[in-house]
Amino acid sequence: MKKTIRDVDLKNKVVLMRVDFNVPMKDGKITDVNRIVQALPTIKYALEQDAKVVLLSHLGRIKEESDKAQNTLAPVAKKLEELLGKSVKFVPETRGKAVEEAVKNMKSGEVVMLENTRFEDLDGKKESKNDPELGKYWASLGDVFVNDAFGTAHRAHASNVGIASNLDTAVAGFLMEKEIKFIGDAVDNPVRPFVAILGGAKVSDKISVIESLINKADKILICGAMAYTFYKALGYEVGESKCELDFVEFAKGLLDKANGRIVLPVDTVVTKEFAEDAESEVVPSDKIPADKMGLDIGPKTLELFANELKGAKTVVWNGPAGVFEFEKFAKGTNGICTILAGLKDAITIIGGGDSAAAAIKLGFEEKFTHISTGGGASLEYLEGKELPGIECLEDEECHCGHCHHDHK
Ligand code: 3PG
Repeated sequence: MKKTIRDVDLKNKVVLMRVDFNVPMKDGKITDVNRIVQALPTIKYALEQDAKVVLLSHLGRIKEESDKAQNTLAPVAKKLEELLGKSVKFVPETRGKAVEEAVKNMKSGEVVMLENTRFEDLDGKKESKNDPELGKYWASLGDVFVNDAFGTAHRAHASNVGIASNLDTAVAGFLMEKEIKFIGDAVDNPVRPFVAILGGAKVSDKISVIESLINKADKILICGAMAYTFYKALGYEVGESKCELDFVEFAKGLLDKANGRIVLPVDTVVTKEFAEDAESEVVPSDKIPADKMGLDIGPKTLELFANELKGAKTVVWNGPAGVFEFEKFAKGTNGICTILAGLKDAITIIGGGDSAAAAIKLGFEEKFTHISTGGGASLEYLEGKELPGIECLEDEECHCGHCHHDHK
């Protein structure tokens, strides 16, 4: 386990806190505040400990000067101010005199937020390539580094790994701790039966996660368009459905290896066009008409999944069951939310990205044990990879009496 913010004396210290405020925006407005809300406990704790909190985050990707206007963190700082109930001083720079003065003039219990760390990418991708000078510069502004940006933990950037390698104290925030605990335990030490639900469009996106979970989960329920590649592997026709022909052999191999532990949908909602109000019907999985495409799982599949999930003690779900953005094809995703919400005594974890967005959009936010704030990060963590944004933090000291090194 990693050291956390609890292990450090913060009084009067300048705490450089990396958060992931890479929130979805539409027309300059934040459409989902989950990532901000989930970082509040760490920020509040640091303020209660009389720290001076300097927040750093990226937002979007900055490739040219014109990307800056729609990716400024100014509206995020405003939203944070509202949610925190406390003034947040936004500095519209990532370095230089304005930044240094703002930090120097801080009093304990105050919050400063710097501009989008990826504005530094315009000058030789300094943030994304972890430019040593940039990490060193940011580190020079503070005393302690707290990383609460789990969503960015799969990146080795200047604002996480760079700062951590230039400060003596680099620890996890509460959100990071929670993500490590829930996702890490589910993968390494699950309470069984452990069932994984994997959806989304592509097998190719989920190869490593399926390969990793196939050895760990008691069952893997497959849904989303990914299922059609598996159908092809079984010799079914998939009509116009999304299907990755290059991965059919791979899917075959997985089915063999899984020895019955992979469960596929038994029926599918098909339609002639990809549209919100398209006419649809439910057909058995092996009877998809040649001129139709599948956009959701059917009711028999939901029954089957409910059965497979009965008694599960740990469930990890990543990837929606269908095109949930269209109400008509959201029934499968909604149905899975309902099944999971009704499980007694189960730890239910929703991997970030689309499935988290779906669960929140469909009103199930409070019903799961944990909705991850990481998209790519939660997927890589489920794959069993080491994430640089976690690895760069200090290990807890080991008091086991047996080993001469720290426990990870
Ligand atoms: C995410 O939204 O997954 C993280 O904030 C990382 O963003 P990135 O994919 O642009 O690095």
